[in-house]
Amino acid sequence: MPVLTLALSDIPEGVPHQPGDAPVILIREGREVTALGHLCPHLNLPLKKGVVRDGTLICAFHHACFSARTGRQTQPPGHGDLSRYDATVDGETVTVTLPDDAASHAAPDHATEGVDPTRVVIAGAGAAAEACAHGLREDGFEGAIAMISPEARAPYDRTMLSKAVLTGAKNAADLTLTDAAALAARDIVLIPGRVVVIEPGRVTLEGGGIHAFDHLLVAPGGTPNVPDLPGIDLGGIHTLRDADHATAIAEAAGSARRAVLVGGGFIGMEGALSLAKRGLEVTVILREEVPLARVLGDRVGRAIWAEHEDAGVRFVTGASVEGFDGDGQVEGVRIEGGDAVPADLVILATGVRPATDGIDGLPTERDGGVAVAADLSVPGLDGVHVAGDCARVPTPFGPARIEHWRVAQQHGRAAARAIRGHAPEIDIPFFWTALARQYRYVGHATEWDEIRFDGDPSGPFLARYITDGRVMAALAAGRDADLAALHLEMVAAGGPLPA
Ligand SMILES: Cc1cc2nc3c(=O)[nH]c(=O)nc-3n(C[C@H](O)[C@H](O)[C@H](O)COP(=O)(O)OP(=O)(O)OC[C@H]3O[C@@H](n4cnc5c(N)ncnc54)[C@H](O)[C@@H]3O)c2cc1C
Ligand code: FES
Repeated sequence: MPVLTLALSDIPEGVPHQPGDAPVILIREGREVTALGHLCPHLNLPLKKGVVRDGTLICAFHHACFSARTGRQTQPPGHGDLSRYDATVDGETVTVTLPDDAASHAAPDHATEGVDPTRVVIAGAGAAAEACAHGLREDGFEGAIAMISPEARAPYDRTMLSKAVLTGAKNAADLTLTDAAALAARDIVLIPGRVVVIEPGRVTLEGGGIHAFDHLLVAPGGTPNVPDLPGIDLGGIHTLRDADHATAIAEAAGSARRAVLVGGGFIGMEGALSLAKRGLEVTVILREEVPLARVLGDRVGRAIWAEHEDAGVRFVTGASVEGFDGDGQVEGVRIEGGDAVPADLVILATGVRPATDGIDGLPTERDGGVAVAADLSVPGLDGVHVAGDCARVPTPFGPARIEHWRVAQQHGRAAARAIRGHAPEIDIPFFWTALARQYRYVGHATEWDEIRFDGDPSGPFLARYITDGRVMAALAAGRDADLAALHLEMVAAGGPLPA
């Protein structure tokens, strides 16, 4: 068994310490040292970049959290407790013993006994659904779990579609998160189908199948908006929400020369960069004057815009698309009052609507979302929870319907906790986007009085979005550890921070 010996004073507090390239991180609290696996179970990235505060280790990449004392995972994304190794402090010397086959994180325990007759049905097999199913098993739930999804695909990492699949670096099949064997091992049944009716104690699928439930989680995600414009049915015009969409775009990109992205939100901006990396001539057409300014502010939006232009992406801003030219196949995108932009590949990145339209029995709001309680339960519908992109949830930043991966996974876990009878936990919304740099955002601010910058957005920076003297959100690029620390401060404060 490999044994490491080092001085206690060589281990700093507040950050995980990896001695050389040993497969371990050491976390020090005074004279106590905990030795844990060094890779994050989400994407196997190094935890030594993370931050430790008040007994929590936060991964700097996508903010998965772990108990710094036990290695147990406490917040998504990803699934798996960190392995814990023997670390002994003797005077000023720390000795760590690693097993020969040290694996950084173990598959979580789960139950497959089937002795509990409770039936959980999950409409969806995406981020929230996956987290709920795992959360239930990790909490010892032994009843039946059925995931129903029209995609008929094991849960996969949707966030990589606009990144690795569009660049051609990965196929959709490479993105599987919980494969058929892992589902079977956890006794989770994946049923192809679309839930169309919810009634007390049962759901009906398109085509007529009925599934009874004691608890239902509705997590159908979003449906891409498709503008009703002349030429919209031409070949070569795509939406980007699921694995089939991304595969079709990646195939088309193999022979296309000129791509147009309609919309300058996160999907449009990520997709544009990925296609530019493949050598296509790429134009983004957007209504706004500055991409992403509404969400991140004008100054950050301009910095991102400049980074995209440096990568060869062209922009037509303040523009409205009025139709698509072509004969069977798209050849150009017409702009109101302007010339057509030539294109043989178009991606409609014009936002999504909660995929609740085709489901009867849900109390939806005007935007298609469903207002839920803090435990994700739907008032008035016994045993029904809604999670992910569709759920308008009370948060420490006010009620919010947030369309991001980690939030959906938190919802899934929260629904699992509620089903198991545990009280809701408070956590803080977080998302990342991979543009020319990795941008990470914590909190939630739809408007602000002021954005306070620490660093210029053209370089490493951290921006605080301030309303009524409170930091409602923060965004950073190149300042991962600082943002992770701020996240944990928000957790400790239970929400916004004093400015
Ligand atoms: C291309 C792309 C890139 C993204 N990148 C990022 C990123 O970098 N960072 C980030 O934070 N977020 C990102 N997101 C957003 C993130 O993926 C979503 O917020 C998250 O997947 C939402 O989770 P969900 O469980 O609500 O829905 P989804 O993950 O979309 O899952 C919905 C599931 O429900 C199924 N379904 C739909 N209708 C029904 C029905 N009637 N009955 C049963 N099942 C149904 C679907 O087939 C699917 O399995 C990205 C999204 C896309 C599309
Ligand atoms: S690699 Fe740790 S949260 Fe993604």
